[in-house]
Amino acid sequence: MHQNLEINYAKITYIAPSNIAFIKYWGKRDRQIPMNPSLSMTLDNCFTKTTVELKKETSIRILKSFKFEEKENIEFRARIENYLNSIIDLLPWLKYYSLEIKTENSFPHSTGIASSASSFAALAACLEEFSAHLKQRNFNANSASELARLGSGSAGRSIQGPYMTWGLDAHIENSSNSYATKVTNVHENFQKMNDSILIVSSEEKSIGSTAGHMLMNTHLFNELRYIQAKDNISDLLKAILVGDFDTFGTILENEALTLHALMMSSNPSYILLEGRSLDIIKAVKSYRSRTNIPVYFTIDAGPNIHLIYPDKDKAQVLEFIQSTLLQFCEKERVIHDHLGFGAKKIEAYFE
Ligand code: DP6
Repeated sequence: MHQNLEINYAKITYIAPSNIAFIKYWGKRDRQIPMNPSLSMTLDNCFTKTTVELKKETSIRILKSFKFEEKENIEFRARIENYLNSIIDLLPWLKYYSLEIKTENSFPHSTGIASSASSFAALAACLEEFSAHLKQRNFNANSASELARLGSGSAGRSIQGPYMTWGLDAHIENSSNSYATKVTNVHENFQKMNDSILIVSSEEKSIGSTAGHMLMNTHLFNELRYIQAKDNISDLLKAILVGDFDTFGTILENEALTLHALMMSSNPSYILLEGRSLDIIKAVKSYRSRTNIPVYFTIDAGPNIHLIYPDKDKAQVLEFIQSTLLQFCEKERVIHDHLGFGAKKIEAYFE
């Protein structure tokens, strides 16, 4: 046997944050291979905490129990079970252990914030921690990112921070389709950034990301979109390197609007933005032209608006949110977050 199965029991806990894409991953093929490179900011306050207890067994049902926020969750459990079964080729030891998984989010789940990135990153970090211990080697962030990516593409970018790219591109150093890598040489302008998430609606989306990715396969504009993403990531990386907020903001907003334009022009078409999302977008553009404060929006696959801005302008932006934008939010809800550094080990016990 090529593995050393000395461990009879382990309890591992990790927390992993969510991330917000600046260059969007939209379209995939084969086994979670992205059609274009993406780039994201790792968050900090929005995270998932996951505990995995592993027991060595003789006959196996890999996933023994799964609890989300202390309750059974059939839908989520099925996704995790499929995921674990799908990675047995990478983690053959899974065949000899049973897993009890407990997971919870730091952010309320009724906010419409995507939790699959932080969830799969936290679970993958626990699995990688166990693998590393079993094989008597160090925790490998690339392996954790690869495992996370196989659960949800964007999750691969949540293992580390503060800025990550994922997807092979000849112009990006160390880039890979398998795992995400850190952006190096970030200009000081971009070293303290905030993301204030304006909750426009917490209702469940009409079409999930995975279905959205699939619609790209037959989208009339798909090839041009992949070219655009490559151009955008290359220009955005340069902007982050030299501290150029103008170029950064122009690309950031172009990516967000393109993502939603692709949804609106796919077949079938769908619209995730709400009227209040557009109210916020217009108010942000007008505020910026009046004040010259570098505050820009980006949007995930949903109606909520992420405001990205540097720490030095925080007081003014918070004032702007309070006075002008809060009225467009559901129950005046905003989640304030900032750049983070990825997954953190809370405990790892082996016997
Ligand atoms: C719009 O990572 O959620 O947030 O790989 O099918 O789980 P799956 O999709 P997912 O897609 C994220 C799409 C996005 C853009 C991004 O995060 O890059």
